[in-house]
Amino acid sequence: MHFDRIWTGGRIATLAEDGPALIERGAVGAVRGRIAFVGAVDDLPEGWTAAETIALDGRLVTPGLIDCHTHLVFAGDRADEFEMRLRGETYETIAAAGGGIVSTVARTRAADEATLVEGALERLDRLMAEGVTAIEVKSGYGLTLDDELKMLRAARALEVRRPVEVVTSLLAAHTIPPERRDDRAGYVAEIIGSIIPAAAAEGLADAVDAFCEDGAFTPAETRAVFQAARAHDLPVRLHADQRTAGGGAALAAEFGALSADHLERTDAQGARAMAAAGTVAVLLPGAFYALRDQEKPPVALFREAGVKMAVATDCNPGSSPLTSILTAMNMAVVLFGLSIDEALAGVTREAARALGRWGDMGSLEVGKACNLAIWDATRPVELVYWLGRNPLHARIFEGEVA
Ligand code: NIG
Ligand code: FE
Repeated sequence: MHFDRIWTGGRIATLAEDGPALIERGAVGAVRGRIAFVGAVDDLPEGWTAAETIALDGRLVTPGLIDCHTHLVFAGDRADEFEMRLRGETYETIAAAGGGIVSTVARTRAADEATLVEGALERLDRLMAEGVTAIEVKSGYGLTLDDELKMLRAARALEVRRPVEVVTSLLAAHTIPPERRDDRAGYVAEIIGSIIPAAAAEGLADAVDAFCEDGAFTPAETRAVFQAARAHDLPVRLHADQRTAGGGAALAAEFGALSADHLERTDAQGARAMAAAGTVAVLLPGAFYALRDQEKPPVALFREAGVKMAVATDCNPGSSPLTSILTAMNMAVVLFGLSIDEALAGVTREAARALGRWGDMGSLEVGKACNLAIWDATRPVELVYWLGRNPLHARIFEGEVA
């Protein structure tokens, strides 16, 4: 066997389903950007050769991390709203007074695609510096056909500019645009009749997302958006049960959603429906933290029902100004009670599942993309233990040091 590149002598956390927790004195070999071998050095096929052999010196190797829920593309910031919340105003009162999502919409509409790309790259670089090799990016700050497509094009441009995999979600159903406030039905009809078909035709959306919430979209409106997604063969995901219990988790499950996200107010029935549908729970502790939420997602219920849990940054300028996946992992264990193993699986295996990409990424298994994070650490707990310390040693994207 001849490898283009092989890493030897590390502690390998494969994250394969039912795999060993760690392979000691392990190796990962790449051929044409894919994993061609993963296992103990002693089990390498006799007579193997490699164009390049890299010594890991006992370092921990994990799959490249996956941030499966972000709003990375936007213009401006909402630091003023952060200060208002520190003075006691809430996310909801600020939104009702014309701030919140719509204030980012105004600035995002005014920005051209190149400006959006530059802003997102600055945030992407921070995520990549912590070993992120794949990222989901949503639209949702355009809320017109042209502005939503502009956002999705900006998201697609990121993977041209950086060695990273981008998965996009069309989130035209993020909030009712201010100019359509008296015409909700008209805006929903536009999403269904115009925005989803155009994004699908141009191949700009890998999935359709919606914000099912008081003050955003009702379950009936969300259902209509999901039916349109289905008609265009696009999978769905949902911002569900974040601020109010609206049956969002069950609604997502009814449509076989890849994921339901936030879920602070999901009940047992919602958890069971998600488990039956294979819908992944994406936990977003950055938003819980920044909004000083008191209600935690029902992690025990998810475990009991057998719901897979992912963890993501929810990077956005309002509810989760967070560009650190390691911090999201720390918050998931400290605030939500996930175990270290669950937090690591949440940014690898389960995040891949939440993106519908488990066949291609999220674990170190032969045939998958050779995306690795190599850490100056020997145990997964060391990735999560410190806040603000980045132990990344090297990041490998499709078999290349990147
Ligand atoms: O995931 N919940 C809705 N959407 C975002 C918030 C976006 C914003 O406030 O700009 C979220 O928290
Ligand atoms: Fe979000």
